[in-house]
Amino acid sequence: TEPLPINPLLALAVARDTAREAGRLIQSYARGELQVQTKGGDARDLVTIADTTADEMIQYNLSKAFPDFRIFSEETYTPGDLIQTDIPTWLVDPLDGTSNFTYGLPHYAVSIALWWQGEPWVGVVYDVRRDIMFYGTRGGGAWANDRRLVVSDRPLERAIICADWAREPVRRRAVAHAFADLVQVCHTARSFGSAALNFCYVAAGWLDAYFNLGLYPWDVGAGGLLVREAGGMLTDETGAPWTTAHRGAVATNGHIHEAILHTLARHLTDDHTP
Ligand code: IPD
Ligand code: CA
Ligand code: CA
Ligand code: CA
Repeated sequence: TEPLPINPLLALAVARDTAREAGRLIQSYARGELQVQTKGGDARDLVTIADTTADEMIQYNLSKAFPDFRIFSEETYTPGDLIQTDIPTWLVDPLDGTSNFTYGLPHYAVSIALWWQGEPWVGVVYDVRRDIMFYGTRGGGAWANDRRLVVSDRPLERAIICADWAREPVRRRAVAHAFADLVQVCHTARSFGSAALNFCYVAAGWLDAYFNLGLYPWDVGAGGLLVREAGGMLTDETGAPWTTAHRGAVATNGHIHEAILHTLARHLTDDHTP
């Protein structure tokens, strides 16, 4: 691959400033009327005034700084939209963890990534409530504030496994059943409700694995780069390197990757017809 047509550190600086500003904007809505709505008739798919306003601000900032780049954002995406690999494209999740935000659970993030030629170049995940900036660039490592991130080397029996649930019923059940199997053999298991932060936690070695079968490019674009830059593995549920076309993502320290894939495969191929 050719190098990015601009200095990635410039893009990183804009993404970081923008994510922090989005965090402030989201917090300004936290105590007010959230105007919660559902998307496409799915009662589990929530969106608030904080999601849409943060999205508008982020898109304004990014397109002002880089007018030739594309933006692929959760809140303006329409099904069928494709990421063009020959144009640098921002993958934007203005608020990752909307259910947490809506219920008052203080755990959510802003995720901004820059992709080009099918590869991530810049990734930023801002933990709004803890004020932790996770970021990385292609070949430049993964960082949390000023600390370099490295994945763990724990085996399954000492691992903390994390997952959350796809909305599509068959995949939702597969995740739940795989989670139930793994909890019997690992150290312990968690589900926090922000995919972007879960990837960062794998990169940091705080978690040993995270999987989700219902993700979109904006959920994985930034955190997935950090997992790889921290020495971890990121694939889809079949073990293929993760791309923006995949809905399933499995991120681990590498050592326990096969075990997670194997457990998931068992429940994805089961026949559950009653
Ligand atoms: C969701 C969160 C959640 C994950 C869902 C995502 P959103 O993103 O990351 O942890 O389980 O699959 O859709 O809608 O809050 O940005
Ligand atoms: Ca959402
Ligand atoms: Ca999300
Ligand atoms: Ca979101």
